[in-house]
Amino acid sequence: MADLSTKYMGLELKNPVVVAASALSSKVDNIVAAEEAGAGALVIRSLFEEQIRHEIGQLDEALSQGAESYAEALSYFPAISHGEAKEHLFWVERSRAATQMPLIGSLNAVSQGSWVKYAKQLADTGVNALELNYYSVEADMNRAGADVEKAMLDIVASVRQEVSLPIAVKISPFYTSVGNLIQQLEGVGVNGVVMFNRFLQPEIDPDREEVLHEMTYSTAAEMRVPLRWIALLYGRTGLDMAANTGVMEARDVVKCLLAGASVVQVASTLFRNGIGHLTSLVSGVSEWMDGHNYTKVADFQGTLSQAKFEGNPVMYERAQYLDFLMSRQRWVKS
Ligand SMILES: Cc1cc2nc3c(=O)[nH]c(=O)nc-3n(C[C@H](O)[C@H](O)[C@H](O)COP(=O)(O)O)c2cc1C
Repeated sequence: MADLSTKYMGLELKNPVVVAASALSSKVDNIVAAEEAGAGALVIRSLFEEQIRHEIGQLDEALSQGAESYAEALSYFPAISHGEAKEHLFWVERSRAATQMPLIGSLNAVSQGSWVKYAKQLADTGVNALELNYYSVEADMNRAGADVEKAMLDIVASVRQEVSLPIAVKISPFYTSVGNLIQQLEGVGVNGVVMFNRFLQPEIDPDREEVLHEMTYSTAAEMRVPLRWIALLYGRTGLDMAANTGVMEARDVVKCLLAGASVVQVASTLFRNGIGHLTSLVSGVSEWMDGHNYTKVADFQGTLSQAKFEGNPVMYERAQYLDFLMSRQRWVKS
């Protein structure tokens, strides 16, 4: 029977299937269910600073209602203030107490100071690692790419200085030089990189002439992007790579591992098929390993990465491109 155990950022996982940060982990019961269904680890839904700020604004507004007409009434009540991240942190602590598997706390903050403040608070909940969810759509045309990257690296470096837990950064695929950015992240001392975040994209309804902000789940075709980058970087970065976006079935998990991922994160497929789908993801990988005579994950991790091309990433890309051109020629002729 295959041994699926693996290491991610120094954490011991019983298998490489990790539940990605999502609304699924909003309930402690779901986190327990994910562990029972066989998850190797779970990333808890992000602590979003903007959400906290929004709630503080709403509370202030509610408390100031009628304050002008009944100013004296304010003195009857004790001063009420928003608990900031307390609610989120309390529930992360409860999740920690209810489970044994590695739990990863996730954070998306705004200013450098608050990234550090909330990262320290999350680290104190007992989570085993942190994931910095660097979700940012740069709409400011005056900000150059290099400035965007520098701001991110400064934030990550300052969190690294204050938190001793393993840290992964969840990045988007929309960087000019993904490999260089990952190299720089390694330089500031992080341990892993999640490839890639999936942004909420706006949709337009032409009938109602409205912009829609609806959440859509990913499709299997989207997995090609992380697959390419993981295969290109395996063996060339010291960071553990977590594949994310578009992983639906056990075969997809296997593909990511063959490309060189240390672990594979899943969200959409669990929303579609239920938390119990984790069991078939894990057993499917195990069956595939048995069928291919692999006893442990390390036996095949990265075997279809650029390392196969004698560590030549340019050849890896060119070979795929040439294969594509040749097959297209054959297709046009026939
Ligand atoms: C409903 C929902 C909520 C999500 N919430 C978070 C979140 O809090 N933090 C985060 O980093 N990613 C969040 N994500 C993104 C997922 O972690 C993941 O990166 C993305 O869905 C791509 O993986 P998938 O193709 O398996 O869905 C969310 C995704 C969904 C579908």
